[in-house]
This record gives sequence, C-alpha cells and structure tokens, in this order.
Amino acid sequence: MLREMSASPSRILRRSRYIPAMAEAFNDITLSADKATRYAEVTDEIASVLDGEGNLTARMATVASMLANSFDHYFWTGFYVVDPAKERELVVGPYQGTLGCLRIAYGRGVCGAAAETGQTQLVADVHAFPGHIACDSRSESEIVVPVFDAQGQLLAVFDVDSDKPAAFDATDQLWLEKILKATFG
Ligand code: SME
Repeated sequence: MLREMSASPSRILRRSRYIPAMAEAFNDITLSADKATRYAEVTDEIASVLDGEGNLTARMATVASMLANSFDHYFWTGFYVVDPAKERELVVGPYQGTLGCLRIAYGRGVCGAAAETGQTQLVADVHAFPGHIACDSRSESEIVVPVFDAQGQLLAVFDVDSDKPAAFDATDQLWLEKILKATFG
C-alpha cells in the first residue's frame, strides 16, 4: 500500500495502461518521431529480440506487441493464421487489442480478401469495404498484409486496425511488408 502511494505518476500511468516498463522505455526513449525512421528502428529491434527464436507463436506475439506499442495509430494489431484443420479459413492468432472475432473465411472482409488474393489491403474507410467485419465498432480504417513462409505458402495475415479514418499509407505498407517478410519468409 505504502509502495503504491509513493509510486511516481509515470509508474501509475504505466500500470493503468498495462504497459510494461520495458515497452514504455522502448517507445518513449528509443524511437524517433518520423514514421519511416521509427519503422526502421522497430524493424531492427524485432530482429534483435527474435534472433535465435524459431517458435512461430513467439515470433507472431513479439511482432504484434512491439508494433502495437510503437505506433499511436495502431488500435488493433494481430495475426489471423491459416487453419490447417479447416480449408480456406483463418483463425485468430497472437494479437493486441480488444476482443477479435475468432474465425474468418477466405474472401470475407478485409482479412479474407488479403488471404484470397495474397495482396496487401489498404482500406481508408472500412465502412465502404464490402463485407467488412466489425469486430470492434470503433475501427475506421485498416491495413492487412499477407504473411508467407520461406516456401511462399500463406501462413497468416497481419491485420492492423485504427480508430481514425485513413490512418495507414504507403509507408505503413512498405515497412509492414518488409518486417513480415524478414520475420516469416
Ligand atoms: N478487420 C477485419 C476483421 C478482424 S478485426 O477487425 C480484429 C476484417 O474485416 O477483415
């Protein structure tokens, strides 16, 4: 109790947002304000944290956490993984954010379109996207990048939603494609 009362304001704030101390230091102290520069820095950090770690879940969880904690325009960040047990269906994987829907069929919504076409989907207004799945009604825009393994097989899609319209641009696309290729390709 005494420790709680004497905690510094930044420590209290950190606790209330459930952000671990390391992430706050990583975000506020290490990273640049410029978006492209920040992506370049996070790319290096991800590679260094994952060096020698082969487990796919650990790799996905780390990418989702480090990106979500590095950019203010990220609202929901995570993977929908190809389900080996069900044809043409994605199942939710490691993510950061509010409750996501569990399964998405190929061709359904933005994630399903990315899985179906193998192409990144950059959506400025989710309400204008046919079949968009509103897991959280606050989502306004999103980017979904397909994730391939070294053999070129689809492993998952990486979905980032924002609560602001048109939050993602070509810089997000370029760097996310680069990070996902470097991490899983
Ligand atoms: N945005 C996705 C659905 C998943 S959630 O938003 C977490 C879509 O329409 O594909």
